[in-house]
Amino acid sequence: MPTEELTKNNKKQKAKIETYKIAEDLKDVKRPEDPKRVQHFFTSVAKKYDLANTVMSFGRHYSWKRFTTKVVEPKEGQTGIDVCAGTNDIAILLARIVGPSGKVISLDFNEAMQEVGKFKAKKHGLDNIEHVLADAEALPFEDKTFDFLTIGTAARHLRAPNALAEWYRVLKPGAKMACLEFYSPHNRIWRAMYNWYSYNIMPKVGALVARDKSGVYNYLPDSIRVWYTEERYQELMQEAGFVDVQFRRFSGGIACVHWGSKP
Ligand SMILES: C[S@@+](CC[C@H](N)C(=O)[O-])C[C@H]1O[C@@H](n2cnc3c(N)ncnc32)[C@H](O)[C@@H]1O
Repeated sequence: MPTEELTKNNKKQKAKIETYKIAEDLKDVKRPEDPKRVQHFFTSVAKKYDLANTVMSFGRHYSWKRFTTKVVEPKEGQTGIDVCAGTNDIAILLARIVGPSGKVISLDFNEAMQEVGKFKAKKHGLDNIEHVLADAEALPFEDKTFDFLTIGTAARHLRAPNALAEWYRVLKPGAKMACLEFYSPHNRIWRAMYNWYSYNIMPKVGALVARDKSGVYNYLPDSIRVWYTEERYQELMQEAGFVDVQFRRFSGGIACVHWGSKP
C-alpha cells in the first residue's frame, strides 16, 4: 500500500479508536481493558518498557519472541505484519529475515511506544520496517495482504474473536500467524509463587525501573488473570478459521505461543 494512503488511513484509524464501537455481530464481546487505560499505561512506561520487560521476565522474553518469529516461517522478500508491535523486538527479528527485498509492518496504536520502536529500527539500520499507527482489531489493509502475522504479549488487550477474524482477513491463504501471550501457570505451587511475585514484586520492580509512581504496573497481573486458558485460545483460533493450530508453553506456563495457518 502506498505511504500516502497509509497516512490517510492512520488518521481514519485514530478517529476510529477515539470513538470505538463494538462490532454489530459481536456485541457480547467486551474489550478486556478500556483502550484508554491501555494507552495511558504504555505512554507512561514507553521509554523504560524494554528494561522493565527484561527485568520482570528475567530476560526470558527474548527467547519467547525468537520462537514466535520462527513458527511463522518468514522468508526473504516476504511482507509480514507484527501487530501491537510496541518497541519492535519482534518486528526487528522479522525484518532481518525478510531482508531489504521484503517488508515488515510494525503496527501499534500508541505513539510513545512506536517512537521507541522507530528509534530501535534506525539504530539497527533496518529501513524495511514501516510503522503504522492503528488499532489491531481494525487493520488498514486489504484482504490477503500478508505472508505472516505475529503478536507479542498484547492479545489480552483485545477482543479475541474480533482480532482473530481481522488477522485472518489480512493473511494470504497458506500464511501463518503466531501469538505470544502470558498465562497463569497450571502447577498449583508454581502458580501460587508466580501470583505472589506478580502482585508483590512485579509492580514494584516495574515502578522502580520505569520510575512510575502512579501504580500503573498493577495493571499487568490483573490483565493476565482475566485471560483465556491456552486450550480456549486454541479453540478461538480454530473458530476464526485457522488450521493446524498448536501451542507451546514456556517457563512453567507463564508464557505460551499459539500458532496456526490460514488454509
Ligand atoms: C505489552 S506491549 C507488547 C509490545 C511488543 N509486542 C513486545 O512483545 O514487546 C503491548 C503493546 O500493544 C499495544 N496495543 C494494545 N492494544 C492495542 C490495540 N488495540 N491496537 C494496537 N496496539 C495496541 C500497546 O500500545 C503496546 O505497545
